[in-house]
Order: sequence, then structure tokens, then C-alpha cells
Amino acid sequence: MESTVRQNEHQRLTAQNTELATLAGGLAHEIRNPLSTIGMNLELLAEELEDEDSARARRMRKRITNLQAECRNLEDILNAFLQFAKAGELDLAEASLNDVVLEYIGFLEPQADSLNVELRPHLDSNLPLIMMDRALIRQALVNLGRNAMEAMPGGGSIDFLTHSRMGQVVLEIIDTGKGMDEKTLSRMFQAFFSTRSGGSGLGLPTVRRIVEAHNGQISCESEPGKGTRFTIVFPPSSESSLLKTQ
Ligand SMILES: Nc1ncnc2c1ncn2[C@@H]1O[C@H](COP(=O)(O)OP(=O)(O)OP(=O)(O)O)[C@@H](O)[C@H]1O
Ligand SMILES: [Mg+2]
Repeated sequence: MESTVRQNEHQRLTAQNTELATLAGGLAHEIRNPLSTIGMNLELLAEELEDEDSARARRMRKRITNLQAECRNLEDILNAFLQFAKAGELDLAEASLNDVVLEYIGFLEPQADSLNVELRPHLDSNLPLIMMDRALIRQALVNLGRNAMEAMPGGGSIDFLTHSRMGQVVLEIIDTGKGMDEKTLSRMFQAFFSTRSGGSGLGLPTVRRIVEAHNGQISCESEPGKGTRFTIVFPPSSESSLLKTQ
């Protein structure tokens, strides 16, 4: 009886959540179209002023450049927001986490090389498959990898570890970056919290939403000046296959 009540409450909250995410996503799309029109018109204005060299034209070009930077900022925020809204909708299939990690490392390698960051995979060859939305897990890796790179402006390394623990699949991402103090650690999963100018602060909340949509858990240890370790634990495939029916 009690469990039926709890289940109904859970279903109600899930439906409410989905509706809010749809509304928020819709709103972001509605803003994106006029924003891109503004961006295109600014581009045209800039082109029209290109050959003029009066003081007035220079002032106008400067203002246009400022407006273009603001447009790009808004676009970045909207994209991060849309990603956040989409992070709860799963398209599941059984897959290997190792494959997704290796694919991501291949993608990141050129950028990492140029920034003096070494990428080191330590992948368990007997890792069980799990039910996952590959595109979303990749998105989570992208957000975590980007944060790690941003924490190591002078270079360093990122270790990617996978292993299994009682059927659970564990992924650890360890960087040798600047680490986080207590305050940052306690607030990093809050939407819009960022210590970077120009950061949307939606990177980690999106990662958490993706992990939790997979019935997984994410935790973090960090030491200022030393580095940061994110640990993600996915449930055994037999349990995560229940996600299909949710
Ligand atoms: N690997 C890391 N090392 C050090 N600090 C980190 C790391 N990952 C996250 N942080 C801290 O957590 C904050 C929140 O991260 P999050 O990814 O949510 O937002 P952001 O990176 O600031 O902005 P965005 O991801 O939208 O560009 C960061 O501003 C940074 O202070
Ligand atoms: Mg980030």
C-alpha cells in the first residue's frame, strides 16, 4: 500500500519534471531563432561598415563587436541549457563503456596534445556491458574532460579508469589540475554555479542529470593544487535494464 503511494508520487514527480524540461527546452528554442536573426543582421551591419574609416564608423564597429560577443554568450548559455533539458531523455542500448571512453579520447587527443595534456586510459578488458544512451554518456565525458582541461592551463594528465565492482561498472576520471576548495566542491553541482568568467555553470549539473537518469551515482574528491577525481558508478546491467520501462 505504502509502496503504491510512493510509486504514484514518483510517477507524478517524473511527469512534472518531464513537462518542465519540455517547457524549458521549448523556451530555449524560441529564444534561439530570434537570436540567430540578430546575429545575422549584426554580421550584415559589420560588412556594410567594413570599408568606412570615419571615427563614427569605428565607434559603430566596436559596438557591433560587443553585441556579437553578447550574442555568442547567449548562444552558449542556450546550448548548455538545451543539453541540460535533454539530459533526462534516454535512448537506451546495451553498450561498452570502454568503447565510449576510447572514442572520446580519440576525439580529445589533438586538442590535448596541443595543450600538453596526456590522456591515459586504464580500461578493464572484462568490463560488463551496461544499458546506456551513448550520446548522453559521451556528453558527460565531454563536460568532465573540458573541465579537467580548463583546470590544467599549463598541461598535465587525465587518467580514465574503468573497472567493475560486484556487477557495477565504475568510471574514474582523474586530473592533475588546480583542484577545488571546499566551497567550490560543495556548490559545483548547483545549476549556474561557475568560477570561470563565461562559464554557464551547467556542465556538471548536466553530467549529474545524465548519470542519475542511468540510475548511477557521481562523486568527487579534490585537493587544491593537486587535482580532482570524479567517480561514476553505474548499476549492473540487470538493474539498469529496468530503465527501459521507466
Ligand atoms: N576538474 C575540475 N578541476 C577544478 N575545478 C573544477 C573541475 N570541474 C569543475 N570544477 C569547478 O566547478 C565549477 C562548475 O563546473 P561546471 O562544468 O558546472 O561549469 P563551468 O565549467 O564553470 O561552466 P561550463 O561547463 O558551462 O562551461 C567550475 O567553474 C570549476 O570551478
Ligand atoms: Mg564545465
